[in-house]
Amino acid sequence: MKLVFLGPPGAGKGTLAVKATVFFKAPHISTGDIFRGAIATGSPLGMKVKSIIDEGRLVDDDITIGLVHERLSKDDVKNSYILDGFPRTIAQAEALTKFSKIDAVINLEVPDKLVFERLSGRLVCRKCGFNWHKYFNPPKKEGICDKCGGELYTRDDDNVEAIKERLEVYREQTAPLIEYYLARGLLKEIDACPNVDIILENLKKVLDSP
Ligand code: AP5
Ligand code: MG
Repeated sequence: MKLVFLGPPGAGKGTLAVKATVFFKAPHISTGDIFRGAIATGSPLGMKVKSIIDEGRLVDDDITIGLVHERLSKDDVKNSYILDGFPRTIAQAEALTKFSKIDAVINLEVPDKLVFERLSGRLVCRKCGFNWHKYFNPPKKEGICDKCGGELYTRDDDNVEAIKERLEVYREQTAPLIEYYLARGLLKEIDACPNVDIILENLKKVLDSP
């Protein structure tokens, strides 16, 4: 199954992908994670994109499309993958159709209020990348990841100004993809407000329905 997870920042794309990747045996590809990995290693790509990401703007289409194209040429994603955070513009969606055929686009719907609550409380593990939350899903020991013992940090783009900018960018450049994929018969809508296990069950149901 080749899936795209669409939705505003904080919709829970990454959190759902962690569960869905196991259930569907489909590798999880997050463009945000790839960029943050590049920033952490201080690579030329990381240095180029750091300020763009911290301010909540989008990285250039050419760079992003090139990265995803290269990743999708690998053997492990020949039959299945979950794309989290790509495409995010019509140009990216058009490019994707040229190098891969997706089965469905899952649009995760959440109100802005919940986006702010989720992002302002998010804690990310520096080692395994798992997304915890101060109130919704706190680790047993403050500041430490239950899964791998890694240190938890707050993303540089999880501040009020950057969250507002990301929502604005989402509305202007990414939300038009909802119509785009609806017109192509690929869009499936899911309420992303409940617990992630309920969302995963609903995802299985929508994928089973014609
Ligand atoms: P990216 O990392 O993709 O950021 P985003 O789209 O803003 O999405 P987030 O990762 O913030 O949210 P999420 O939906 O994954 O939510 P999560 O599961 O973590 O991209 C970062 C940046 O990289 C972009 O701003 C851009 O600059 C650049 N970039 C990336 N892709 C690009 C592209 N294609 N083109 C150009 N630039 C690109 O959940 C959030 C919190 O809520 C967590 O704390 C979690 O524990 C909690 N939570 C999640 N689900 C639930 C639930 N069901 N119930 C309770 N709590 C929940
Ligand atoms: Mg994410």
